[in-house]
Amino acid sequence: MNTTQSIVFLRGAKTVLRPIEISDVPLLTKWINDPDVRMYLQTNKPMSEIAERKWVESLADGKGGIALLITTYTGVPIGVMGLHDINHIDGTATTGAMIGEKRYWGKGYGSDAKRALLAYAFETLNLRKICSRVYAFNTRSIAYSRKCGYVDDGVQHKHVFRNGEYHDVVQLAIFKDEWLKMRQRARTSRRSR
Ligand SMILES: CC(C)(COP(=O)(O)OP(=O)(O)OC[C@H]1O[C@@H](n2cnc3c(N)ncnc32)[C@H](O)[C@@H]1OP(=O)(O)O)[C@@H](O)C(=O)NCCC(=O)NCCS
Repeated sequence: MNTTQSIVFLRGAKTVLRPIEISDVPLLTKWINDPDVRMYLQTNKPMSEIAERKWVESLADGKGGIALLITTYTGVPIGVMGLHDINHIDGTATTGAMIGEKRYWGKGYGSDAKRALLAYAFETLNLRKICSRVYAFNTRSIAYSRKCGYVDDGVQHKHVFRNGEYHDVVQLAIFKDEWLKMRQRARTSRRSR
């Protein structure tokens, strides 16, 4: 394991989240250009390594919000997750995520990383409401957010054009109060086992 792989910023039950490095740029470029992945993302233009490198540099300057690389416990890089549009007056932010290694989809890695990020957002950054915008056809993403405690927060009807059709954008959100209650319930049920 090299030094980058051993860096830990947040620890989930099966994932580690660490800062993104320039050495991650080739992987990020592979993931974000993959048609099976980008159909769920806002980006729909080709992304070069130069463009990805600039994004990584903007994170280092503190201009691009917070984004972290998700790895497995054995150090395999599998995706990216972040907090954007952080507003410390309103106490809000938006989460974005991409598991680029498709063989890891649907195995609990995304929701594990998301819970670690939510704990950081609420219990370290003292944010109040974390939002997520998901295309209505992205049922896996809606399911994983709900699993983490997100609830409906509105719909933008026929808002985006993808694969030749207009689609709704589902807005989901989780409030700090609800997050803390969920954490407490999980701790109580672990203790009573
Ligand atoms: C969305 C994403 C981050 C979720 O991460 P993940 O590791 O795949 O999600 P998890 O395995 O933690 O949870 C997925 C849940 O959806 C369910 N699920 C899996 N495939 C599904 C599908 N096609 N439709 C509905 N639900 C599905 C799973 O059963 C699981 O719920 P369960 O654990 O209660 O059974 C990841 O799949 C991804 O990056 N996808 C491509 C890019 C993307 O969609 N990004 C998000 C943009 S808003």
